Amino acid sequence: MSLQDTLTNEERLADLDLESLKQLVGLVEYDSATDPFPVTGWDATVWAVGNATQTAHFFQSAFGMELVAYSGPETGNRDHLSFVLKSGGVRFVINGGVDPDSAVIAHHARHGDGITDIALEVPDVDKCIEHARSQGATVLVEPHDISDEHGTVRSAAIATYGETRHTLIDRSKYDGPYLPGYVARTSSLVKREGAPKRIFQALDHIVGNVELGNMDQWVGFYNRVMGFTNMAEFIGDDIATDYSALMSKVVASGNHRVKFPLNEPAIAAKKSQIDEYLEFYRGPGAQHIALATNDILRTVDALVAEGVEFLATPDSYYEDPELRSRIGQVRVPIDQLQQRGILVDRDEDGYLLQIFTKPTGDRPTVFFEFIERHGSLGFGKGNFKALFEAIEREQAKRGNF
Ligand SMILES: [Fe+2]
Repeated sequence: MSLQDTLTNEERLADLDLESLKQLVGLVEYDSATDPFPVTGWDATVWAVGNATQTAHFFQSAFGMELVAYSGPETGNRDHLSFVLKSGGVRFVINGGVDPDSAVIAHHARHGDGITDIALEVPDVDKCIEHARSQGATVLVEPHDISDEHGTVRSAAIATYGETRHTLIDRSKYDGPYLPGYVARTSSLVKREGAPKRIFQALDHIVGNVELGNMDQWVGFYNRVMGFTNMAEFIGDDIATDYSALMSKVVASGNHRVKFPLNEPAIAAKKSQIDEYLEFYRGPGAQHIALATNDILRTVDALVAEGVEFLATPDSYYEDPELRSRIGQVRVPIDQLQQRGILVDRDEDGYLLQIFTKPTGDRPTVFFEFIERHGSLGFGKGNFKALFEAIEREQAKRGNF
């Protein structure tokens, strides 16, 4: 399988090609012939929220996503509403309970707005499940076909950290709007004049938070069960402020199309942001979703215009001569970044620009990152300290620090 074959249909429909994806999310060459668990790419990020109607509106109006499919009582699903939204190659599925006994409502009651399923597209569901089972994974849903007039999808699901799962799906024989049971639906929302066609194009990484002492176990899970490789490792001072600390390791699929940083809290003088997440999410879960853009300035301007709030970066960050010499020349003047609070990091491969939102739900749990890569395959290691100090200021305001 060449890199070209690794595009999902969503990516092709969004006119993404190998070169643009490589730039957006940092792909590498690899030999899929020896991969025990080949992954084509991201399929969908599935949410359970308290109000899917309004959350779907938020992702359309604020994040510029497009409504493409729907399932609910009108389509025979009396349990929950489900809105399917897209931006470039990224698909979110927003579920909210209708029946008071819906599992979506139970999930939301415990975890708040959160991610239930990080679904991945794979070329061979049965091969993946066979390998996962042999490595001790919990198979939640056995491989099965679902069909309608648009064709057949084959899927299965395995458990990962907390109450999160990975659905594995082969949709190569399906051309419907999402899955059987869903109908195509578009929105009546009209984009503001001058709004960009898309605010982001691709999904870069999804970070998982796990309990103290469990990070290596989950790194091992992704190594063994899904054949993911270790990308980078951050421990100790790199990722600690004077008060709180965390440890993080990153695993990635063969060509780095799917990247999962895994965090655990580390012992420090005060409560780590990971502890705060674990307390309010009531356990491990997905912490942030990093969305790739090819113009982060325009992305941030569009989001700010819609009222999306970002973590503030102190002016001292930009005025630090060490930062200036570390990052060297980037594509825009530093003051353009400073005006928007965009962070910069550079490594041996290039640089990246990144910014983090405040939590988008009611609990201090899930948030978003927007990232523009220029060769760097990293995650902004050089920014962690400045970033965590910004997070700690927010934590302190909530009385959780
Ligand atoms: Fe990130």
